Amino acid sequence: MAGMDFTLTEENEMIRATARQFAEEELAPLAVKMDREEKYDPRVTRLLGDHGYMGMEIAEEHGGSNLGAVNLAIALEEVNRVCASSGVTMSVQNGLVNGPINKFGTPEQKAKYLPRLTNAEWMGAYCLSEPVSGSDAAAMVSFGEDHGDHFVLNGTKRFITSGLHADLYVLFSRTDRSAKPSRGITAFIVERAFPGVKVGKKEKKTGLRGSDTVDIILDGARVPRENVLGEVNNGFKIAMDTLDAGRVGIAAQAVGIAQAALDAAVKYAQARQQFGEPIANFQMIQWKIADMATRVEAARLLTYRAACLKEKRLPHGKEASMAKLFASETANFCADEAVQVHGGYGYVGEFPVERYFRDARITEIYEGTSEIQRLVISRAVLK
Ligand code: CAA
Repeated sequence: MAGMDFTLTEENEMIRATARQFAEEELAPLAVKMDREEKYDPRVTRLLGDHGYMGMEIAEEHGGSNLGAVNLAIALEEVNRVCASSGVTMSVQNGLVNGPINKFGTPEQKAKYLPRLTNAEWMGAYCLSEPVSGSDAAAMVSFGEDHGDHFVLNGTKRFITSGLHADLYVLFSRTDRSAKPSRGITAFIVERAFPGVKVGKKEKKTGLRGSDTVDIILDGARVPRENVLGEVNNGFKIAMDTLDAGRVGIAAQAVGIAQAALDAAVKYAQARQQFGEPIANFQMIQWKIADMATRVEAARLLTYRAACLKEKRLPHGKEASMAKLFASETANFCADEAVQVHGGYGYVGEFPVERYFRDARITEIYEGTSEIQRLVISRAVLK
């Protein structure tokens, strides 16, 4: 009888090595530049596409590499270890855009959109939140009026990751005001080029400054009926199902940031001399390193477990929330401790831990706050 196996396959190891080399050689210089300039560099999309990271769960017939959720998590970890802004771009494209089109799209929608997304000719974004609806996603007020062969959408979608450069939005709007909120929402595939779709204000952010976050304004946006994703008024379930998958990606992002913080703390602690010896010789520092390393490993295992379930098409909502909750708290713990190990040097721009500290913060907020993850987990446990 085969026992439990916690080792990675040769393919997994190869994906990790390739992604690590790619991130260190190609993304590292852009990570620093984008953070300083507070803007996304479109070369990232091109690089991610050229190296096959924009369609990792999509079949070859649609331009993907069909490598599965575990390999995607491993690659995301490595990309985020170097550049969390590039990492969120990759996570959104794979999990929140390709994912729902692949799962809920018609053959025509898949044939039309997936090849452009997987080869990174097009960048995608996911539009759920609005000024009045964040954690309570079903409370959205943007409205799509049914005109038969098309819908006319009005409203504002807020905090849209990748929204500035995106060519396509998987977007949710209310389409029935009389139904229970979660049963009156429709998912649409909205091209940026459709009339009435506009990009609004860009946010100034604490971290993830190399990823643009904007409002998307629907000003009488005309969306053909053939661009309804799934069924009319059944979009909330698509939004939730998509987030179950997306949260595995954010968990992997958080593991990547946490690992980067740990690596930086180890390197600094071994080099920095105080009281006549490397600070790594001091027990107070050793304990920090031990706690960081233990939490990173636990977060990684939760993340791979959720990814494994997803890859096997088994329910993984609770596990994705657990991974996202624990990994995002770990990223913040590790980034905070890494700053502490660096002392004053951790608080200035000379060392990367200052960026990790700022980048880690969002992982406890987007794709569902830690409070929402606890809600999802406790509902599943108590049901
Ligand atoms: N999969 C499929 N269907 C689901 C589901 C899931 N995981 N979770 C719930 N549903 C269904 C329910 O079965 C229910 O169906 P019926 O109407 O048929 O009964 C319906 O959806 C409503 O479910 P709930 O009653 O549980 O809904 P709720 O309003 O009480 O709570 C919530 C839902 C979990 C709090 C949800 O609103 C939520 O996840 N909020 C957080 C939103 C979020 O994560 N936003 C992130 C924005 S995107 C982003 O951040 C991207 C980025 O920038 C990178």
